[in-house]
Amino acid sequence: MADTPQRHPFLQGLSKHRGAPPTVVIIFGASGDLTARKLIPAVYNLSVDGLLPADFYLVGYGRKEIPDEEFRTLAHDAIKEFSRRELSEDVWGRIAPHTTYVAGGYDDKAAFDRLAQHIAEIEKSIGREVQTLFYISTPPSVFEPILLNLGASGLAGKYLGQAHHAKVIIEKPFGRDLTSALALNATIRRVFEEHQVYRIDHYLGKETVQDLLVQRFANAIFEPLWNRNFIDSVQITVAEEVGVGTRGGYYEQSGCLRDMIQNHTMQLLALTAMEPPVAYEAEAIRDEKVKVLKAIQPLDLGAGGDVARAQYAAGMMAGKAAPGNLQEQGIAPQSATETYAAIRLSINNWRWQGVPFYLRSGKCMARRVSEIAINFKRPPGTLFAESGGFNLAANTLSFQIQPDEGLSLILNTKIPGLETRTQPVKMSFRYSTTFGSNTPEAYERLVLDAMIGDGTLFIRGDEAETSWKVYTPVLDAWAAAGRTGMDSYAAGSWGPLSADALLAKDGNVWRQP
Ligand code: BG6
Repeated sequence: MADTPQRHPFLQGLSKHRGAPPTVVIIFGASGDLTARKLIPAVYNLSVDGLLPADFYLVGYGRKEIPDEEFRTLAHDAIKEFSRRELSEDVWGRIAPHTTYVAGGYDDKAAFDRLAQHIAEIEKSIGREVQTLFYISTPPSVFEPILLNLGASGLAGKYLGQAHHAKVIIEKPFGRDLTSALALNATIRRVFEEHQVYRIDHYLGKETVQDLLVQRFANAIFEPLWNRNFIDSVQITVAEEVGVGTRGGYYEQSGCLRDMIQNHTMQLLALTAMEPPVAYEAEAIRDEKVKVLKAIQPLDLGAGGDVARAQYAAGMMAGKAAPGNLQEQGIAPQSATETYAAIRLSINNWRWQGVPFYLRSGKCMARRVSEIAINFKRPPGTLFAESGGFNLAANTLSFQIQPDEGLSLILNTKIPGLETRTQPVKMSFRYSTTFGSNTPEAYERLVLDAMIGDGTLFIRGDEAETSWKVYTPVLDAWAAAGRTGMDSYAAGSWGPLSADALLAKDGNVWRQP
């Protein structure tokens, strides 16, 4: 009999997730925004669900001197403010005594030795070895000294060769172009082995993004249609209502292509377009993602080519006047940083040749919505045709990633009556109606997965590099052009005209989800 393939924890329910070894999570950048908004609430909610190991410790690390007690208060208040579930003092009472803080510089080897000592003391106090999970949630300028000091202090190599070896989660941005991503990967490899590294893209932790794999591969009806013979085009939208706001300092150095397109929308594209993996496990899935990313053709950067960029101008958001990007705090008056980008991609493989993939993302757009829309080819108009006066739409399958998570399919239907008249209708499945709305946050899933050593929902080094390869020429061209070619769109609209032109040349239009 053939060997039974190893089943992914996802397929085993949560049983494996309950098996995390004793763990100490060390957060670098402990007083940062992400720590308060996402990481500490994630740990708290894992505790509510009984998914943290009995011996679980949380250590904040940062440059600021913060006494343990004060760090606990910060963590407590962060849960109160940001957790999806109300703070229970009972649950917090289990985490609080195991929450501590170590102050130190990121380039201070002696401070890392102190951290190592701190972890050794935790082990001594419980009489067991613990797994260390480092979470690097700092500005990227200090990624390198942190990594090097984890190596120099011996922390990176701790228990290597055993299941509870040290692991590291690295927050985005993972480099700012191909050269810097290669350099960062090189530094990581000097210190960690690839299987210890968890590069985060929080979109992969979203329920609906995981569901995309289930929908594609647990249903037999999609795969036969999932190719150039039946699909006309694919649109991936990650639209935000928020503007740059108070994040001008960061955003000005980043821009939409780096902040959203290169990572989040490309992950959505990879999961949509990849070949079926041979197994539901990290390497098999990541191999397929890299393969499809490698098949993306170089972009045409000329006028009327494959890319569009824009900044929001003053407009109306939710009935209120909203400032333009150039008026936001921390944005240079002549800023050449885009708040919107649209891309037309071609994937040159057997499955997708000739099917355009359109990606767009922007701040201050009409609605917050992330979706993947698969537009099918129209049927031949032998019986029903628009030219014959029938109201028809192309069949569109859309995965609504957020908000109002779900799936819908547009079908053409007969309007009841004695005449034959048609109308497109939408068949929808909504998570909230079927399953209720208390879905785990992406960071809960990702922290837990890293703790049990499952890299399926993380990005491998070559994956990040392949994606940067696609976009680095665009970034270089935009940097050289400055503001020349920068379009604008009113805050609260669906984006600039130049993005419409990108689709018009294929006879397509953007959806208004
Ligand atoms: C982050 C970007 O990665 O994703 C932000 O840096 C953006 O600019 C955020 O607002 C969007 O995430 P979500 O989960 O709210 O869609």
